[in-house]
Amino acid sequence: MPPGPVDTLGRPVRDLRISVTDRCNFRCRYCMPREVFGPDYQFLPRSQLLTFEEITRLVGLFTSLGVRKVRLTGGEPLLRHDLERLVAMLAALPGIEDLTMTTNGSLLARKAATLARAGLHRVTVSLDSLDNATFTAGNDSPVPVARVLEGIEAATAAGLTPVKINVVVRRGVNDAEVAALARRFRGSGHIVRFIEYMDVGHSNGWRLEHVVPASEIVAAVDAEAPLIPVAANYPGEVARRFRYRDGSGEIGVVGSVTLPFCGDCTRARLSADGKVFNCLFATSGHDLRALLRDGADDDAITAAITAIWQARTDRYSELRSSDTVGLPKVEMSYIGG
Ligand SMILES: C[S@@+](CC[C@H](N)C(=O)[O-])C[C@H]1O[C@@H](n2cnc3c(N)ncnc32)[C@H](O)[C@@H]1O
Ligand code: SF4
Repeated sequence: MPPGPVDTLGRPVRDLRISVTDRCNFRCRYCMPREVFGPDYQFLPRSQLLTFEEITRLVGLFTSLGVRKVRLTGGEPLLRHDLERLVAMLAALPGIEDLTMTTNGSLLARKAATLARAGLHRVTVSLDSLDNATFTAGNDSPVPVARVLEGIEAATAAGLTPVKINVVVRRGVNDAEVAALARRFRGSGHIVRFIEYMDVGHSNGWRLEHVVPASEIVAAVDAEAPLIPVAANYPGEVARRFRYRDGSGEIGVVGSVTLPFCGDCTRARLSADGKVFNCLFATSGHDLRALLRDGADDDAITAAITAIWQARTDRYSELRSSDTVGLPKVEMSYIGG
């Protein structure tokens, strides 16, 4: 068991998700709708972003407290200039067992080999539809599905495997495509992970009736290709796993709304400007950048992270109710999905 603090519910810190930029070249309706994230939207100025050196220093301290999985995300992480340099710096740190990235895939075809050489282990690629019209309407961008599929192929060729494919399922948008998406990647070694649409942020107009429950998603795949449930790979894994009975691979379902998994949540999030958030639904973060830039030494920063984690009480998804709909929330593109 790695060392480190536990929070008020006895949960250790094992995973760190780092938003390396709050910018994105997509405008997914459920994440960064263009009405809100338009030409006048004030993204973080460069000077406020953590530098690669600052991120690496913090990750080193988090690993000393027990973090073993690090995910680069955003915003779109591949928009951050020279990201492979950060990957190489993180890959050189001891203690990280899983170094991965979540991307919309639009720039992956040209970056996959470089990222793999720099030491990235795996990628997760978001892809909500195989139908070009649904795909481009959903992310409000001219990038075709084919470009993302090329990115997945390039990641596979570069050994960034198993590639996971995130599909956010929304009622009336892509719910009819669940079986087709599973079929497209069955037998490929890739793992499709269907995600219930979550009430993150306040700009996407989330409503419970837009959510397609995990049980319905599993039933849609199972009707075509029978599934059997599989045990989690490790405590705190977010996706429930299912294997095809005929041995042609597996899928995952992230039931954040109908099957909350707060009880064993071991994830911390670091925003692009250096605030640590204890939960995707936390309304405020703790400013580590101020400590870094005020010249705090490693012991002081480690003590601050320990205190933040030990005070953690968050279990939003287990408490979620109609009362939480109007609560203030931060945007996923900022906090890191
Ligand atoms: C915020 S994105 C950041 C990384 C990258 N831009 C991407 O799209 O993969 C991370 C993941 O969060 C998912 N996501 C964003 N908003 C969501 C929501 N409201 N509910 C569920 N998943 C969401 C995205 O589909 C994506 O798979
Ligand atoms: S989900 Fe990812 S690709 Fe879509 S707008 Fe959000 S950050 Fe960008």
